[in-house]
Amino acid sequence: MSASSNVLSELHGRVALVTINRPDKRNALDSATRARLLEILDELQANREVRVVVLTGAGDKAFVAGADISEFEGRSPMDQFRVMSGRTIFDAVEAFPKPIIAALNGFTLGGGCELAMACDIRLAADTAKLGQPEVNLGIIPGGGGTQRLPRLVGTGAAYKLLYTGDLIAADEALRIGLVDEVVPAAGLRARALALAESIAQKSPVALQLIKEAVRASLRVPLDEGLRQETTLFGLAFSSEDKAEGVSAFMAKRPAEFQGR
Ligand code: COA
Repeated sequence: MSASSNVLSELHGRVALVTINRPDKRNALDSATRARLLEILDELQANREVRVVVLTGAGDKAFVAGADISEFEGRSPMDQFRVMSGRTIFDAVEAFPKPIIAALNGFTLGGGCELAMACDIRLAADTAKLGQPEVNLGIIPGGGGTQRLPRLVGTGAAYKLLYTGDLIAADEALRIGLVDEVVPAAGLRARALALAESIAQKSPVALQLIKEAVRASLRVPLDEGLRQETTLFGLAFSSEDKAEGVSAFMAKRPAEFQGR
């Protein structure tokens, strides 16, 4: 286990459980927490033992209640621009070349909802509440919320959340497609780790190429995305994992993927 005060990282076999750890502040993202999360993601990217990441929040109240609002006070427009123009946690999570599952264990608000949306899959505790309340502060989402939310839930449902700042319950988030599964709060962590472990058994090469191809679907026109898929499909044929997967199928034995 590697720990710093604000983000914890713990290995469960091939799954890394990363916990935003500021429960007294509802895991709000201050600069130090964002910087540490970036470092941890880089460590986990480099660690070949780690195949899947689960991202959650400490305590039972919040996943992440947004940016740390206290840091907004007295910040100049140029200061804020600088904070947001480097490599952000939202970019880093989305581009992370292994699957990342968000386990939403409570309030998932503002930058917390944006962080969850940058993850590949969202599981929510039945007690979770989600929303983009920036409008109540006289600001707008700055971590991709105006872009990822409409892609996930459609324009009308996105406007409703963004214009009103209202929080919605996990079941409603499931209904509109903002989360992918709702589980009883007490079982959230176990379910997230179990899903992660089932994915961790697959070929890391295939997982990375799937992520690359699906990311393209959000960025480029269909023709271009389909071309990228064809290229990535061909690339998969260069891997040892493909040779292992096919020969294991032919020999009727389980595949042992090495991620090469
Ligand atoms: N930034 C900074 N501090 C935050 C925070 C945030 N986004 N969210 C919560 N906190 C702090 C509170 O200031 C409080 O600190 P204190 O104990 O030093 O006074 C502590 O976390 C607990 O918050 P509290 O409001 O008492 O808890 P709650 O369980 O009653 O309510 C929330 C939780 C999340 C509904 C509420 O804190 C809230 O609305 N937070 C802001 C959400 C938001 O607007 N996010 C978007 C930011 S752009």
